[in-house]
Parts: sequence; C-alpha cells; structure tokens
Amino acid sequence: MLARAPAILLAASLPIFSGCFQNGQSVLHPTGPGADRIADLWWIMLAAAAGVFLLVVAVLVRALTHRSHRSEPRTLTHEEASTRWVLAGGVALPAIVLIPLLILTLKTLAGLTPPESGTAPEVVITGYQWWWDVHYTAPADASGVRTANEIHIPVGRPVRVQLRSEDVIHSFWVPSLQGKLDLVPGQVNTTWLQADTPGVYRGECAEYCGLQHARMQFRVVALSPSDFEAWLADQRKPAPVPTDSVTTRGHAVFMTSGCSFCHTIQGTPARATAGPDLTHIASRRTLAAGTLPNTRGHLAGWIGNPQAIKPGSLMPRIPLRPEELHALLAYLGTLR
Ligand code: CUA
Repeated sequence: MLARAPAILLAASLPIFSGCFQNGQSVLHPTGPGADRIADLWWIMLAAAAGVFLLVVAVLVRALTHRSHRSEPRTLTHEEASTRWVLAGGVALPAIVLIPLLILTLKTLAGLTPPESGTAPEVVITGYQWWWDVHYTAPADASGVRTANEIHIPVGRPVRVQLRSEDVIHSFWVPSLQGKLDLVPGQVNTTWLQADTPGVYRGECAEYCGLQHARMQFRVVALSPSDFEAWLADQRKPAPVPTDSVTTRGHAVFMTSGCSFCHTIQGTPARATAGPDLTHIASRRTLAAGTLPNTRGHLAGWIGNPQAIKPGSLMPRIPLRPEELHALLAYLGTLR
C-alpha cells in the first residue's frame, strides 16, 4: 500500500493541476506569439535547470560512494583540489549555464516590444480596486468605445495596450497570450496582445491589490477581423431608448436611485465614471470582474447585496423595492 502512495498522490493531484490548464489560462498552452516566446524560454530554462540538477546529483552520488576506497597517490594538495572545485563549480559552470540563458532572455524581451503607436489597434486599460476599465483609442472608428472587464481583439494582429492605474499597483496578466506587466499609479506602461485563434482567454490581476484582488479577473475575447468590426459597430451605438412600460420604469429607477451617480450609460444623462460603463452590460460574459456569470439572477443578487458577494467593493447596496429591482433588471437586460 505504502509503495503505491506516490502513484495515488499523483493521480489525486491531477484534477487539481488540470484546473491550471482549463479556461484558456496557462503559460504552457500559448496561443499567441508573445506567450509563444515566453513558453519557449521557459522550456529551455527548465531543461538547463534539470541538467544542472542531474549533474549535482551525480557528483553527490559519486562523492558518497567513492570516498572510502581511494588508494592512488594524491597529485594535488587538499587546497589546490578545493580551489579547483570552487572555480569549476562556482565560476565556470554558472557562467556556461547562465550567460547563454541571459542572452536568450534578453532576446526574448526584445521580441516582446510593443508595436509602434499608430500601427495597431490601441486600447487603454485602467485598473481600479477591483475591476478593469477598457477604453479603445485607435483606430479612429473604434475611438471612444468603452467597456469593462472584457477586451475584444481581432485575431492575427497585435493590439497595443496601455496600462494605467487609478488607485494602487495592479498587474495585467493573460497567461495564454502575454507576460505580466504592472499598472502603476501616475505612469503609463505599454504592452500588447495577439491571439492566433479566436477564443476566450482568461486574465487575472497578478499583483496583490487589496481585499478583492482574487476577484479582479477579465476576459480577452479574440474575434475574426469581421466579427471584431461587427462588435465595434455594436459597441459604438448608444443605449436603446426603452420601448415598454417596464423598461421605461427601469430606466427611471437607474437615473433616480443612485446607479447614475457612479455609472455611465451612453445616450442617457448617466455620465459618471466611478464604476464600469454599463452601456452594453448585457453583452458581457461576467459581472463584478469575473466574479459571477452575467445572468439576470446573478445581476439581481449583485445589485441586491454587492457586499455579500464582493466585500470591500465600492459598489454600495441600494435599497430597492421588488417592483423597482424587477424593472431595473428588465432595463439593464436591453443594454446589449
Ligand atoms: Cu488588482 Cu490585484
């Protein structure tokens, strides 16, 4: 039984580790040229580290097994032999291993340089505790499109990403597409995203930024160029005007109950920017930065008691009567 323990442990841990590879979120499953280069470097570093480890183990085994029966006369003094070991193991071997790895790392870094401004679609991403504002600034026909916690990109071409923060340091990381880069208050850092195939890739905040750091996720949605154009065209439209009594009531609830103090809905008087732009909230996959699937029930729960779902979040609880909540949900459901 005991002999089988390692196998059982390994089998038991597989479902845990398999979670690391699901949902398009793994550095070991790169799906864009940025992550490709990083993964290549990782495999080379792993091979080098494994080689050094095996070498050290071999030397150790030899030292343990050959110590006792040394009969041949010594040609070196003890000090000379020690110096030789220190030079070989402490200077020559690290230089042989680390210098090529340093050169490869610098080459990889150079290959990750963002595209020049004006040559690629451009998006400004601003980190807040604990969500992501996504604002398209180029090309001209995308300019002004604003969303939250979802970044749509066209496949097969790089998208320039400028990173800013409005409060503390966050870190932008889409493991399948690109390396990490911090969002630092008072500074703009630039990176880029490119996906080879259409799909949804998960991203995370990778720098501890307070109570809800773990619930500061986002999705990168890679679309074919024509689908991306269609998405942009949809996002450029202002919110539809309510057409029936329930959604008209919901619109009024939004404007008068406090929602409009923090959120923007394009095409309405709500222009506040403290919280995510909700002009197209119904078209998004998740709520509260990846915390909940975007369904009517979850939205009701989120509006009803945000602090129970994401304690510390700046979204306050707004007391609404059931009729008001029902109308508000109906109105928000039209914002596609
Ligand atoms: Cu933002 Cu962690």
